[in-house]
Amino acid sequence: MDISRLLATRAQFISASEVRELLKWATADVISFGGGLPDPSTFPIEDMKKVVEHVLEAYPHKALQYGPTEGIIELRQEIAKFSAHSGIVANPENVIITVGSQEALELLGRVFINPGDVIITENPTYIAALQAWRVYQPRLIGVPIDENGMIVEILEEKIKRLTTEGAKIKFIYTIPTAQNPSGVTMSQDRRKYLLELVERYDLVAVEDDPYSYFLFESINVTPLKALDKTNRVIYLSTASKIFAPGLRLGWAIANEDVIKWFNLAKQSLNLNTSNFAQYVFLEGLRRNIVLKNLPHVRDLYKRKRDAMLAALETYMPPGIEWTRPSGGMFIWVTAPSEIDTKELLKYAVTQYKVAFIPGHGFFVDQSVKNAMRLNFTYPTFEQIHEGIRRLSMALRERYDSTR
Ligand SMILES: Cc1ncc(COP(=O)(O)O)c(C=O)c1O
Repeated sequence: MDISRLLATRAQFISASEVRELLKWATADVISFGGGLPDPSTFPIEDMKKVVEHVLEAYPHKALQYGPTEGIIELRQEIAKFSAHSGIVANPENVIITVGSQEALELLGRVFINPGDVIITENPTYIAALQAWRVYQPRLIGVPIDENGMIVEILEEKIKRLTTEGAKIKFIYTIPTAQNPSGVTMSQDRRKYLLELVERYDLVAVEDDPYSYFLFESINVTPLKALDKTNRVIYLSTASKIFAPGLRLGWAIANEDVIKWFNLAKQSLNLNTSNFAQYVFLEGLRRNIVLKNLPHVRDLYKRKRDAMLAALETYMPPGIEWTRPSGGMFIWVTAPSEIDTKELLKYAVTQYKVAFIPGHGFFVDQSVKNAMRLNFTYPTFEQIHEGIRRLSMALRERYDSTR
C-alpha cells in the first residue's frame, strides 16, 4: 500500500537522520567516523551493575512505575547540585529531565516555533537540532564561527537587521563549548557579549552543552547559564557522553515558565522520561561515578583527538584543512571546493570501507558541499590511523578525478 497520499503536509519536512543512515552502513569492516558515539570502554559497567541492583532493591516500585513528567524530584535536586560545579545556580523547579537532549530540542520546536519564525544558530551547527526544527518550518539564520566560536559582531548585525525587518526571533541556539561539529569553544568575552545582545534585544538563548565535560585545553570559560542574570538562557545537557547514551537521559535548566511549557508539551510526547533510567543516573551521581570517571575519559579522548590530528597530518593531501578541536568528539575537515563530500562518502565506503558525515547537513541552507565531520571518540587508535589513511586515499583519487 502506498501511504504517501495519507501523509501530513509537515511530513515533507521530516528527513532521515544522515547519522542514522550512516550507522546502518557501519558493518564490522567499515571504519566509522560517523556518529557521536562514546568509546564503549568508558561505560562504567561494573559500577552500573551495582547501581541497577541497588535501584531494584531500594526503590523497585518507584523505578518501574510511571513518574512525574518533569522527572523525579531526587534527580532534579541532584542535577541542580551537579550543575553548581560549573557555576550554574538552579533550583529543582528550574530543572526538567528529558529523553536525551534531543527531546529538549524537539520541545523547543513544539513550544516556540511557528512557520517563518527566526532561529539563529552557529553555521555549521548540530545537524539533528536543525532536523528537529525544520518540521516546524522556521527561517534558519546562520552566523559564521571562527576559532573563538560564534562571531558575535556578525550576530549583532543580523539581529539588528532582522529586528528592523520585524522578524520574530524566537531564540539563538549555541553550542558554546567544544562545538558540534567544529570543536571550537566560544571565548568568555564573546559569551558576555552574546548575553548583552540577548538582554538588549529582549531575546532568549539556548545553550546546548554536552561537551564541556571534555575540554582538552585549559580554556577559562563558564557556561552562558552561569552568567545569566536575567534568566534568558535555556541550558541543555545530557548523561549521554558522561555516563551512557543508552539510558537516554538529558535535562534542561530554565526559568519556571519555560519548564512549565516543556512539561505540558512533553506530556503528550512520552508522559515521562524512564523512571528506571533516572534512578540509575541518580545513584550514578550520588556515588560519584560520573565525576570519578571524567578525568580518565577526558584523557582518553584527548589522546584520540591527538592521534587523529597526527594521522591527518601524515596522510592528507595538500589542500585539505581541519580544525584542532579544543574538546568534544569531532574534527571538522574542509576539502577543496571541487570535492562533494556526499559523493566522496559513497566512494569512501564502497571502495575504502571508511565512513564520515558529509558537512552540508550542518549548515542552515545546506549549501557547503566540501566539508565533513569526523568522530574520534568511538574508533580505536588503530582504526583512527587506518581510517584516516584510507580516507586520504579516497580523497586523493576523487581529487585527481575532478582535475
Ligand atoms: C550538540 C548536541 N546536542 C544534543 C545532542 C543529543 O544528545 P542526547 O540526545 O544523546 O542527549 C548531541 C549528541 O550528539 C549533540 O552533539
